[in-house]
Amino acid sequence: MNPIYVKYDCSSLEAALRECGAGRIFVIYDENVRQFVEEQVLLEALNALDDEESTIEIYEMAVSEEKKSLATVESICQWLLESGADRKSFLLAVGGGITSDMAGFAASIYMRGIRFAYVPTTLLSMVDAAIGGKTGVNFLDYKNMLGTFCEPQFTYIATSALETLPARDFIGGESELIKSFIIENNDEAYERAVKLLPAMTEGANIDELTALIQAAAAVKGGIVTRDFREGGERRKLNLGHTFAHAIEHLARENKADITHGEAVSMGMVMAARLSESLGIAPEGLADSLKADLAACHLPVDCPYTVAQLAGAMGKDKKADGDKVNFVLIRAIGDVTVEKLSLSLPFFNQE
Ligand code: GLY
Repeated sequence: MNPIYVKYDCSSLEAALRECGAGRIFVIYDENVRQFVEEQVLLEALNALDDEESTIEIYEMAVSEEKKSLATVESICQWLLESGADRKSFLLAVGGGITSDMAGFAASIYMRGIRFAYVPTTLLSMVDAAIGGKTGVNFLDYKNMLGTFCEPQFTYIATSALETLPARDFIGGESELIKSFIIENNDEAYERAVKLLPAMTEGANIDELTALIQAAAAVKGGIVTRDFREGGERRKLNLGHTFAHAIEHLARENKADITHGEAVSMGMVMAARLSESLGIAPEGLADSLKADLAACHLPVDCPYTVAQLAGAMGKDKKADGDKVNFVLIRAIGDVTVEKLSLSLPFFNQE
């Protein structure tokens, strides 16, 4: 696993770039973080250049789920080619998960692969998307259908980027942070998170938040180190996501406005209810998780019935007949992956 730096600002980014001998640097970023890039990233990238003749190139992107496509990856590759990127060039991607997924994919195929690194700017990407080397784009209505497993040289988390993140996006990211600690609850990180996060929107305690981000990044980093290609343990990171993907699918069909993080929050409550119904989780776990997530301002009530969600799950590309993988919760810090039939009574609830 390559380094994950967790800092307040970008003042150590130059050192991180130098550490991997970045060469010529190409910076790609989400237009929403232009100010952060101009104020924090570009000077660091310039200072990291050894050769005075060398330059940095920049590419600003409009980012959306609809634009997470091969066409955008082609545009990135075209920019790299037209700006003279060669095999020694280095791509630095600054933005949320869509930016890093697409930039990482472009870097992993351009000239059969150039080196790249991420500066994630959303909470969700800091603790999930920018760690672990999954890159990709949507294809023919399937999310992340085309992509590669390819690790960034490093992930540089500057928590100051969160200060400009809209509240709804910050709160959405909290669900992935909490998810990490339901999977592995080292040093009571779950309890610390659900104590700290309810107050976050009123004024950040950035040091405590930084410690939690570091802890969540360590959970993901550890799992990915043990199971990079998702042969087993990495599937635990999909906690809440089987339900969430179905929720997002139905939301798209119904033109409802539900973000990924919000869907994951609802999905984790449903995963807890499923675990209880199978006798895997103790009674009350789902209600207590629901209360914790709600206190963090996350939505917890799914607008669709379990039967509607099961209908969408059955059509998912990952379904194996009527069987689908679910991450079940035994207790906070202890989850397990099971393949279950959608004909179980739990999935018939209207
Ligand atoms: N986002 C889940 C994973 O990286 O495996």
